[in-house]
Amino acid sequence: MADKKNVVWITGTSSGIGKALAIEFAKNNIFVIGTARRLELLFKLKKDLGEHENNFEPHQLDITDYSAIDQFHKKVLSNYRVDCLINNAGITSFKKAIDDSIEDIENILRVNLFGGIYAIKTVLPDMLEKQSGTIINILSMVTKKVFTSSSAYTASKSGLMGYTKVLREEVRDKNIRIINVSPGATSTEIWSKEIRNKHNDSMMNSDDIARIVFKINSEKSNMVVEDIILRPVKGDL
Ligand SMILES: NC(=O)c1ccc[n+]([C@@H]2O[C@H](COP(=O)([O-])OP(=O)(O)OC[C@H]3O[C@@H](n4cnc5c(N)ncnc54)[C@H](OP(=O)(O)O)[C@@H]3O)[C@@H](O)[C@H]2O)c1
Repeated sequence: MADKKNVVWITGTSSGIGKALAIEFAKNNIFVIGTARRLELLFKLKKDLGEHENNFEPHQLDITDYSAIDQFHKKVLSNYRVDCLINNAGITSFKKAIDDSIEDIENILRVNLFGGIYAIKTVLPDMLEKQSGTIINILSMVTKKVFTSSSAYTASKSGLMGYTKVLREEVRDKNIRIINVSPGATSTEIWSKEIRNKHNDSMMNSDDIARIVFKINSEKSNMVVEDIILRPVKGDL
């Protein structure tokens, strides 16, 4: 494993925060494997990276499909050493609990909670063997404060937070860092165009989130920033 190239695997890099993370890491000469379902957007991102395009390898992957992830691990990831996993892929419905269908709820939990856990289970054995690695979860302000019309989303993000808080204590002595990032409203496609236009001034920018996450991941002392909240200066939406 010592000869394998180090990579950062970022899920959900076809848009928003994940795309900004891929750009930030690739531009800083970190080799990124970026996954999402919309492969054409991943290829566009690679092209747009210009001189840094060789730092980005796109792969189509539905994070809810464990057998596809297993194949992806065998065919792609096993050729590298995943130094850092960023669990970023995520969806929500912005509906009240009464209005969410069972399908809405299952989809949100499958992507945000199970998808995150599947990715962790995929990279963890190698990280344990190597006795190093970083797992960064893009959670949300919903883990810190109650927002209505986000019950399934809150369950999914709080679920991943709980899972990784336990995992952190189980792998701490193996030098594995678990970093939970909880951003507030950020202007991405997860929000409707109307909301983005109306609240643009009070939403954060994906590039700023990506810059902070990159910095935190780059910290190489024996210190780790374990839990961070990123909010618009003027408060939540
Ligand atoms: N924007 C905010 O205000 C905000 C605040 C706090 C936390 N977050 C979190 O930030 C993360 C990124 O969201 P965003 O705001 O950047 O929204 P976004 O632009 O809609 O990006 C979501 C990403 O997740 C991917 N994704 C969704 N379902 C997937 C699936 N089944 N398999 C693989 N990838 C999937 C999408 O790719 P494909 O559709 O191509 O698969 C896309 O790349 C999410 O976890 C979100 O909960 C966002």
